[in-house]
Amino acid sequence: MRIGIYPGTFDPVTKGHLHIIERASKLVDHLIVSVAPNTRKAPMFSQDERLEMVSRDIDNMRDKHCEISVEGFDELLIHYARKKKATCIVRGLRAVSDFEYEFQMTGMNAKLDDNIETVFLMASDKWQFVSSSFIKEISALGGDMSDFITPNVKSRLEEKIKQNM
Ligand code: COA
Repeated sequence: MRIGIYPGTFDPVTKGHLHIIERASKLVDHLIVSVAPNTRKAPMFSQDERLEMVSRDIDNMRDKHCEISVEGFDELLIHYARKKKATCIVRGLRAVSDFEYEFQMTGMNAKLDDNIETVFLMASDKWQFVSSSFIKEISALGGDMSDFITPNVKSRLEEKIKQNM
């Protein structure tokens, strides 16, 4: 049983993330999408809100190639992955700028436990430039981000922006 973990902040989840989830589901028998609190990033949505948005989008996902579950975690990623008996951690790579951070994170995680591999999936060209920060910023300024997020996330984002005004 190969268990993979796809961790992230998902503030909010984008179609780029969902594409990585769909592709990662071809590689393992059970994929756990793990939502981090990540206070370092001061997320716009609470961890529960992010969990709910990811769960809803995965429920609506057409192409699932294995069991996919969604849960929160609040500890060192590698400890959590070990607890879940994961064989790999999946990360999406977009531009060169992601490389430095991902390189360091993979190195640290491998130092902590070299039995758990990190697997990178290149974001497809359609999603190369998508980021949760840009989606929040452009939406707050009235730009239409429908191409990059699902209707579920779009309405939650609009609600949140209204509340914050
Ligand atoms: N499509 C669209 N956007 C993508 C993407 C894709 N395929 N892949 C990454 N992104 C974007 C995200 O939108 C996000 O954008 P933002 O910075 O504007 O918010 C950014 O890339 C990275 O976010 P994400 O993939 O959600 O990961 P993260 O870097 O926020 O999460 C954790 C990092 C949670 C995995 C990491 O902090 C962690 O492991 N925390 C637990 C504590 C720990 O173990 N720390 C030690 C690590 S060595």
